Amino acid sequence: MKKTILTGIRPTGNLHFGHLFGAVSNWIKLQDDYDTFIEIADVQALTDNFNNPEKVRDHVLELTIDLLAAGLDSEKVHIFLQSEIKEIAELTVFYSNLVTMARLYRNPTVKTEIAQKKALFGNDGESVTYGFVGYPVSQAADITALQGDLVPVGEDQLPLIEQCREIVRKFNHIYGETLKEPEPYLSENARIKGLDGKEKMGKSLGNAIYLKDSDEELKKKIMGAVTDPKKIKKDDKADPEVCMVYYYHKLIKNDNIKTVCSECKAGKRGCVFCKQELYQKMLEYLKPFKEKRKYYEEHIDEVKKILQDGTSCAREKAENTMKDVKKSMKIDYFEERG
Ligand code: TRP
Ligand code: SF4
Repeated sequence: MKKTILTGIRPTGNLHFGHLFGAVSNWIKLQDDYDTFIEIADVQALTDNFNNPEKVRDHVLELTIDLLAAGLDSEKVHIFLQSEIKEIAELTVFYSNLVTMARLYRNPTVKTEIAQKKALFGNDGESVTYGFVGYPVSQAADITALQGDLVPVGEDQLPLIEQCREIVRKFNHIYGETLKEPEPYLSENARIKGLDGKEKMGKSLGNAIYLKDSDEELKKKIMGAVTDPKKIKKDDKADPEVCMVYYYHKLIKNDNIKTVCSECKAGKRGCVFCKQELYQKMLEYLKPFKEKRKYYEEHIDEVKKILQDGTSCAREKAENTMKDVKKSMKIDYFEERG
């Protein structure tokens, strides 16, 4: 039997290069060998966006289209919607007894996010809701409801997987062996740098290149990229290793990469030309993606069907988990007890 992969993504924006190279390319590789479930984590997105439900709603189908266009195969993976699986919400309630507040506050991911919120909204903690502090518990419910063996994530999510493993151990210890303890599966390219030279590409950092960007937007972003600051004139020699344009030539595996490198080092290549070349190569790189995206945009009913089918499949699995969980917790009042 194939092992199960469970991972999730919050529908708060479109897919960008950071997602693609950091996570999604990994999921695409794994989809042949594992029973793969990809959760559109709309309930989790609401922990941060409860006052902006439109944003979450608008991105559910948008993100599904992005994922399909990026190369997830609807015949192989189950893309499903978190809010449609009520067992996840139920498990969240049951697991909440197994986690202390102190442990949640110590979770490094939560800790960082709380610090960010306080920096943004003031230090009185008013912006930190119960639902937000508890999202690792709901993420543990996502993973265990689907009985995930492996959870492919970036490094920043490791503390959440660890917290899930603790919940599973505690549950099994108290109520008897019931849940599967998942393993994290680290993406190889976990972090993609921005064209602005920042260590990470992110929507909130304002440096993301979206797969959906128009040609003009893409061009503008590339032309504004950070290059070797020592290079002023076209024939100055430069160091490609400190240049973001070079970094992206490499990322998309430009077959001309050796020439880019040697010409840059020899002062035989101007940055404007180099950026134009990157732009052309990026257009080529993105072409199949854009074609698929266009197809799905024009066949939105097909996208909805894919999401519905994935959700049905996930629901069936979650219902089975719930039966076991209720039995172990002795809250299966109307079931025959064997
Ligand atoms: N927290 C993850 C993120 O922000 C998204 C997510 C939701 C997830 N549920 C999950 C990841 C379950 C792995 C497993 O990227
Ligand atoms: Fe970067 Fe290309 Fe300019 Fe070299 S020539 S610094 S690689 S943009």
